[in-house]
Amino acid sequence: MSISPANKPMISLAMGEPKHPTPAIILEAFKDNLSGLSNYPLTKGSDELRIAIGDWLTRRFNLPTNSINPATHILPVNGTREALFAFAQSLINQNKKNPSVLMPNPFYQIYEGAALLAGAQPIYLPCTAENNFIPDFDAVSSKTWDDCQLIYLCSPGNPTGAVIKEDQIKQLLDLAEKHDFIIASDECYSEIYFDEENPPIGLLEVAAKTGNTNFKRCVVFHSLSKRSNAPGLRSGFVAGDADILEQFLLYRTYHGCAMSPPVQAASIAAWNDEAHVLDNRNQYREKFSAVLKILSPIINVQKPDAGFYLWADIGMDDEVFTREIFKQENLNVVPGSYLSREVDGVNPGRNRIRMALVAELDECIEATNRIANFLK
Ligand SMILES: Cc1ncc(COP(=O)(O)O)c(C=O)c1O
Repeated sequence: MSISPANKPMISLAMGEPKHPTPAIILEAFKDNLSGLSNYPLTKGSDELRIAIGDWLTRRFNLPTNSINPATHILPVNGTREALFAFAQSLINQNKKNPSVLMPNPFYQIYEGAALLAGAQPIYLPCTAENNFIPDFDAVSSKTWDDCQLIYLCSPGNPTGAVIKEDQIKQLLDLAEKHDFIIASDECYSEIYFDEENPPIGLLEVAAKTGNTNFKRCVVFHSLSKRSNAPGLRSGFVAGDADILEQFLLYRTYHGCAMSPPVQAASIAAWNDEAHVLDNRNQYREKFSAVLKILSPIINVQKPDAGFYLWADIGMDDEVFTREIFKQENLNVVPGSYLSREVDGVNPGRNRIRMALVAELDECIEATNRIANFLK
C-alpha cells in the first residue's frame, strides 16, 4: 500500500473500474466450462448466449415479443470498448465526402480514436449544465447531419451521468432517417440507476415504440463490466439493425475476436440473473447518499440521473485541483478537461472533475472527507 505523498493510503476515484466482488454464479459458470477451451468459438457466439441476451434485452427494454431475433439482431463482443472502436472501422465509408462521426463532449475517449482511425472527422457536441448534459440536436447544422455517417450516444453518460429523454431519442431517429446515418448508443451504464421504477430508457425501446421494430439504423452496446462487476471477463454485446450487424460480423470474422467459451458460459449466467444487479445498485445508492451528504454543502455537485460518476464543478482549474489533492491527500480523480475537447474556445470539462464511486463505502467516505479537508 502506498503511503506517499501524504502519509495516507492512496485512494483512487479515477478509473471507472467496478470494485464490488464478481458474483459467485459468474465465477462458477466460468470454472464449470473450462473444457470449452478445447474448441474454437464462433465469432457470432453460441445460440444459447444470443438467446439469453435477446431475452434480457426484451425484458429490460419492454421490446415487443419476438422483435429480437437472436440469430440476426445480436452479436457478443469482448467488452464494449473493442466493439465501440471496431464498429467505426467496419462502417465508415471514406469514399463519401467529409466522413464525420458525431459524439458528446465530454465523452468516453474511445469514440474519438475510433473516428480518427476510421478516417473520419470527430465532431464534438457540447454537453453542459445548460443542456442538462445531453447534446442539443437542434444546434447541429443540416450540412453536418449530411456529412454524419455515425453518431455515438452515451446514456447514462460517462462522465456526466445524464440520461437522454425519450423525445430526444425520437428526434435523433427522425434525423437519422432524413440524413441517413447510424446511431451507436453506448448503454453500458444502463443498469446502475437509483429509482427501481424508472430505469434509463434505451435506443431500441424508443425505436420499437415509434414502429421501427427492425431497429433500422440503430445499434446498442451493453456490457457486463459495470452491470455485473466483471470488467475482467471482457463480455458485452451489440444489438440492433440486422443489416449493420451482418456487416459488422463479417468484419469481426477477419478481426478474429470471438468470445472464449468459458466467458460465454459465465455471460449466460450473468444475463440470466438480476438479483446480483439489484444488490449492486443498492451498494451504489448507499455510497451516493453518504458521499453527497458530505460534498453537497461544500462543492457544486448533483446526484446524476444514473451511473456511478460524480461530475463536480469545483470552481477552480481542474488540473491544478487534481494535482494538488493528489499531493496533499493522496487522492486520485480525473480532471474534467482531459475528458473533453475545446471547441470555439470552450472546454465543457474545465473546472470539473470526475469521481468514480467504485471503491467500497468506507473508502468513498474517506475520499470525500479528504476533499472536504483539502478545500478547507
Ligand atoms: C462509456 C463507456 N463505454 C464503454 C466502456 C467500456 O467498457 P467495457 O469494455 O468493459 O464493456 C466504458 C468503460 O469504462 C465506458 O465508460
